[in-house]
Amino acid sequence: MSATNNFLSLCIFAITFWNSTAESGLVANYSKSSLFTVPKHLPTQTTVLDLSSNSISKLESSDFRSLPNLQVLILTHNSITEIDLGIFQHNDVLEHLDVSHNTLRSVSGFPTKSLKHVDLAYNDFSAMPLFTEFTKTTKLNYFGISARKLSSVEALVHLQVDTLFLGLEDLDGYKAGRLLVFNAKTVRIVLPQNVNIRILLDLRFNGTESLELSKIPLEQMEDLGTFLRRLDEKSTLLNLTIIDTKLSWKDLIDVFKAVGKSSINHLTVSYPTITEFNDGAFKNADPALKSVTVQYILSDTTRFDQNIVFLTFSNLNIDSLTVSDADILYIYCPETPSRFKYLSYKNNTLTDNMLQGCKNLTMLRTLILQKNRLEDLTKVSLMTTSMTSLKSMDVSQNRLYYKDSEIKCNWGEHIIKLNLSSNKLTDSVFRCLPNNIQMLDLQSNQISAVPKEIIELTALKELNLASNRLNAFPGCGNFKNLQALNVENNFVLDQFSEFFQTCQNIRRLKAGRNPFGCHCELRQLINLQKEESVALVGWPDIYMCEYPSDLRGTLLKNVRISELQCNVALLITVVLAVLLFVIAVVAFLCIRFDVPWYFKMLCRWSQVKHRIWKKKSEEIPESIQYHAFVSYSEHDANWVKTELIPNLEKEEGSLRICQHERNFIPGKSIMENIIDCIEKSYKSIFVLSPNFVQSEWCHYELYFAHHKLFSENADGLILILLESIPAYIIPARYYKLKALMAKRTYLEWPEDKRKHPFFWTNLRAALQIKLPNPEEMKEL
Ligand SMILES: *[C@@H]1O[C@H](CO)[C@@H](O)[C@H](O)[C@H]1NC(C)=O
Ligand SMILES: *[C@@H]1O[C@H](CO)[C@@H](O)[C@H](O)[C@H]1NC(C)=O
Ligand SMILES: *[C@@H]1O[C@H](CO)[C@@H](O)[C@H](O)[C@H]1NC(C)=O
Ligand SMILES: *[C@@H]1O[C@H](CO)[C@@H](O)[C@H](O)[C@H]1NC(C)=O
Ligand SMILES: *[C@@H]1O[C@H](CO)[C@@H](O)[C@H](O)[C@H]1NC(C)=O
Ligand SMILES: *[C@@H]1O[C@H](CO)[C@@H](O)[C@H](O)[C@H]1NC(C)=O
Repeated sequence: MSATNNFLSLCIFAITFWNSTAESGLVANYSKSSLFTVPKHLPTQTTVLDLSSNSISKLESSDFRSLPNLQVLILTHNSITEIDLGIFQHNDVLEHLDVSHNTLRSVSGFPTKSLKHVDLAYNDFSAMPLFTEFTKTTKLNYFGISARKLSSVEALVHLQVDTLFLGLEDLDGYKAGRLLVFNAKTVRIVLPQNVNIRILLDLRFNGTESLELSKIPLEQMEDLGTFLRRLDEKSTLLNLTIIDTKLSWKDLIDVFKAVGKSSINHLTVSYPTITEFNDGAFKNADPALKSVTVQYILSDTTRFDQNIVFLTFSNLNIDSLTVSDADILYIYCPETPSRFKYLSYKNNTLTDNMLQGCKNLTMLRTLILQKNRLEDLTKVSLMTTSMTSLKSMDVSQNRLYYKDSEIKCNWGEHIIKLNLSSNKLTDSVFRCLPNNIQMLDLQSNQISAVPKEIIELTALKELNLASNRLNAFPGCGNFKNLQALNVENNFVLDQFSEFFQTCQNIRRLKAGRNPFGCHCELRQLINLQKEESVALVGWPDIYMCEYPSDLRGTLLKNVRISELQCNVALLITVVLAVLLFVIAVVAFLCIRFDVPWYFKMLCRWSQVKHRIWKKKSEEIPESIQYHAFVSYSEHDANWVKTELIPNLEKEEGSLRICQHERNFIPGKSIMENIIDCIEKSYKSIFVLSPNFVQSEWCHYELYFAHHKLFSENADGLILILLESIPAYIIPARYYKLKALMAKRTYLEWPEDKRKHPFFWTNLRAALQIKLPNPEEMKEL
């Protein structure tokens, strides 16, 4: 058997939903889980354990030992027959113990000191259990008990408790005449349903302020009257609540009358069932009575005399009246100037034809007509015209609309708070509002925009437009002093401009649950959250993107819209800055590494390559034996021998150079040798320097004059500028040299060593050509 139970508990353990909240700890809810015993292996951090509506019959001493954090234990609606409070000795923080609706016959052991709320009502105690244990503990907030016998009711007297609940429906065997004295601040009694048991006359209170009497038998209405008449000035009772009681209209009027003369200030009648209308309307309640609340009026008779009810309530001479949830159709204007300061007719069936032009409600400050059948807002405004003290009105949850018409709205001039939520109002409602309104609730209507041409509402501080049809945040042009705005749950994508331009005084903004388009415009909203002067309520959880679709559902908090993307001026500035920077870097690199020089060399090289490629087809004359002839001044001989020749001839099968000294043919003059060299060479290289110009060039200038070959086709010439030559050094008669220098067709010898490889490559490219083999030549 126990094994089965354990198995069952484990199963339930596995399927039970565990609620965990950061502060309140763990809630383990096993309500209606068909348990026969308390489940084992509950998490030790459990703070709330609900075992209600099961079939648990016995509690073991080990059941709750492992739950040191248990604060609330609910065992209501089980079949527990006995309880030893000692089993909670390890539950040092247990405050709330509900064992109501079981079959307890006895309670033993000592309650723990931490207990504040103990409910033992609706069990099978044959006699009231002894409460001595409880009287010794610290003061309880709540104690609930019910019994069929009141043998030891005296114990209740000493019970230190704020609220005492006594369920006495099933009481029998009670002898009237013994006094039932209560010390609790609030006493709630369900009266015996046996009409012969009359306890009302035996009730005495010591320090009790609030009394709740449920299910008073119709037959004991006289006793109630007697009981109420006894509550004179010496009584401390201030509040009386009568619940779920059948009574005739006359009985109710008698209660009003008796209560008016008693110490009671506040009377509440909940769920009264009116059995018959056997009296007329009642007018002058005693002014000592401050407030009357009547709710959930039911009727037993087919003749529910609404007229008597309307007249009675309208003319009650008290400060505060609530008649709610009662199907009341109409309110009359009081027949004499009324004392009403507070009137609530919540959840009835009132229409807008009532109270028109009523001048006898001049003291009224608060009027609540929530959840009725009001329709025309103009008529509602006219209701209030003469209510010169009216400050707050709630007409939410009606069917209100407003149509511009000939009859103008005319609100009571002191209305500062108006609740128009959950109606059918559209944009036009802004033309029918009290001038001095400070707090306006228009949520859940059909407003799509705040019209421009309305009167200024300079006093308006709080405006609620949640759950309407707005597609833009409203501006504050007409509400200069608006401090709190709620536009949650509308259709606003990205239209905020008017709001941000005109709403400087806003301190609280609620704008979540709109289908935001996450574009540039939205940055204003996102940035607002960083501003300390404005509280963005609900940020960040309910602020999400709807568009573009790839951002749908993303929290605004996580969206990055860069300043650059949205600011054209900034974008241009940045692009220009980047451009300038690039130019600067390029310029720097050019200067630092002489890029133009490399570029020039590259061009030269490609030109040469191109030319050679074109030349290919041309026949190289057989007389050509050398790639180049080199001419230079003695002064530059060192460079030619250590740099030029080695570099050109260095590779295997490389260039052949004709040097007039090296390839000297005896028997010929120097000039003849030179000319011989030139004619056997594919190109002629001249190493130019001031020395060369002064000592060597004269030979060639003359030679060029006679050999058309060179003058027409400068292609055969390669000038290397070893040192720069100032123009004045070149004598005027050197036409050819001047012409060549002017064309800048020379190669400059770079000083920078890193450039030397480029120089050589270029030079070699200019000379590279396949010559007929000299050996073959010899054979020929
Ligand atoms: C446990 O769940 C029931 C519904 O099954 C609910 O009525 C009850 O309030 C819950 N108890 C607690 C402590 O939340
Ligand atoms: C009334 O209450 C006071 C303390 O609140 C107590 O001293 C006194 O004994 C009580 N009287 C009766 C009759 O219980
Ligand atoms: C009495 O009733 C009034 C109005 O309903 C309420 O404000 C007040 O708290 C009640 N006092 C007690 C002691 O219940
Ligand atoms: C409104 O009153 C009716 C009785 O007239 C009641 O049945 C209903 O529950 C009430 N509604 C609310 C929301 O209290
Ligand atoms: C308001 O009170 C005055 C003075 O008692 C009375 O003459 C008038 O008829 C009342 N108004 C209404 C609409 O009952
Ligand atoms: C207006 O009434 C609704 C209920 O109809 C309520 O939820 C809301 O809080 C009220 N607004 C104000 C500002 O009191």
